[in-house]
Amino acid sequence: MSDEFMALRDETDLIREVFVYSHRFSDAVFVFRIGSRIIDSPSFPGLVHDLSLLHENGIRILLVPAGGSRIDELLAIYGIETERVNGVRVSTPEAMPLIQMAAFDVATKLMNEFARNRVEAVIGNWVKARAIGVRDGIDYRDTGIIDKVNSDLIAKSLEDDFVPILPCIGWNAVGEPYNISSAELATQLAVSLKARKLFFITEGEAFTSDEIKLRREGIVTHEGYVSRVTVQAAEAILRDHPAGISGIEREMLHQAIVACRGGVERVHFLDGTADGVVLKEVFSTLGYGIMVHADPFENMRPMNQEDVLDVLRIMEPNIKKGVLVRRTEDDLQRLCDDYVVYEIDRTIRGCGALHRYGADRAEIAGVAVDENFNHLGIGQKIVEFLIGEARLLGLAGVFILTTQTADWFLSLGFVQVTPNELPAERRATYDEERKSRVYSFQLR
Ligand SMILES: CC(C)(COP(=O)(O)OP(=O)(O)OC[C@H]1O[C@@H](n2cnc3c(N)ncnc32)[C@H](O)[C@@H]1OP(=O)(O)O)[C@@H](O)C(=O)NCCC(=O)NCCS
Repeated sequence: MSDEFMALRDETDLIREVFVYSHRFSDAVFVFRIGSRIIDSPSFPGLVHDLSLLHENGIRILLVPAGGSRIDELLAIYGIETERVNGVRVSTPEAMPLIQMAAFDVATKLMNEFARNRVEAVIGNWVKARAIGVRDGIDYRDTGIIDKVNSDLIAKSLEDDFVPILPCIGWNAVGEPYNISSAELATQLAVSLKARKLFFITEGEAFTSDEIKLRREGIVTHEGYVSRVTVQAAEAILRDHPAGISGIEREMLHQAIVACRGGVERVHFLDGTADGVVLKEVFSTLGYGIMVHADPFENMRPMNQEDVLDVLRIMEPNIKKGVLVRRTEDDLQRLCDDYVVYEIDRTIRGCGALHRYGADRAEIAGVAVDENFNHLGIGQKIVEFLIGEARLLGLAGVFILTTQTADWFLSLGFVQVTPNELPAERRATYDEERKSRVYSFQLR
């Protein structure tokens, strides 16, 4: 195929992906915590432009700009020093006016940039806070913790099409301001507004220490491809690798866990200095950056020899309808290691397999869900899990053969290819009479 044709196909695939995801996220709430150095970086206008595109496409966005570096700058100008204990700033009464000024300064810069994109943003005092108080003999003075966010009012401004911006300040009942953690604020907002995604836009790549990067079950970067970390793995990282992450990474990872435990499905860490990262994450099947997620695969496990009859039972109605190719007990026993099963209440309700071909390709096959459990997203989880396995194996791509389920695979981001593009070994066993269509999903 010519380079020109391949480029055109890539472009078409991209457009398809965008349509799939824009539909999936309309009316969804996304919360962004933006690192303070990003706001003065050259990538800032591009980032706000991309956030404006999300807003214009019906995604409800909320922003929490961090004050950190701006606060440091202002305190340095006025010669005021503050102490940090376990990464938390002790906000003295003399520092507090400058902290508040810095927090609102970054919020205003964000507001100005949205105005340039003709998006209406609003800065609000929607957060109730109280003093951390004295802990382990340390008086944190005007540093606060969040009591409550006024989610009703924030939801209303989202409905009215505003982009709410929340500086890292909260107020007590008599209007005294407290300096609060922007990571905690973003998390509380995501949980109380039932956000679909929470983003930490960082100043450079996060979690790059070798100790963390190399953990298979932890954070693994495949040259910019998404790295998935379950909440359990994130907890293990915090517990087992205290030296491998910085104070702010620790705080963000901790908040990511709180968010997932509070019902937010996915938390993303994106390097805000790179162009287009938010759009790449939201609108592509592979995603981007590092993701902490509640474990949607906790019901998935490898198939055992004892499961073979249950799996055949799920496949049987589809085999009779000609949707699935017939498999025997022997076939399943022989290829047992390739299969995974999905259980609900210890009963198998779904299955699927990943068959390797050569060093870098695999076929996803035998995907079936018990008819009484259709439309619950089980099929999608099985396919996503198998794609995740293929990615961990470092494969270049996966493919599927189907006669009647093409639209479903298209909706999951697969694209049609010709049977000639199958690996030679699989091409040799391709059933010319069955005339299955072939769909592929590229991983690199
Ligand atoms: C295809 C299959 C695995 C989907 O399982 P599932 O758990 O119900 O799927 P999900 O809940 O993730 O997705 C459901 C969506 O897929 C769509 N879908 C299901 N089967 C489809 C098909 N054959 N063609 C197009 N779309 C299909 C449904 O419209 C549904 O959308 P909705 O929930 O908005 O109504 C299941 O229907 C099945 O076992 N089919 C028979 C076997 C098969 O075709 N396997 C694939 C070949 S390897």
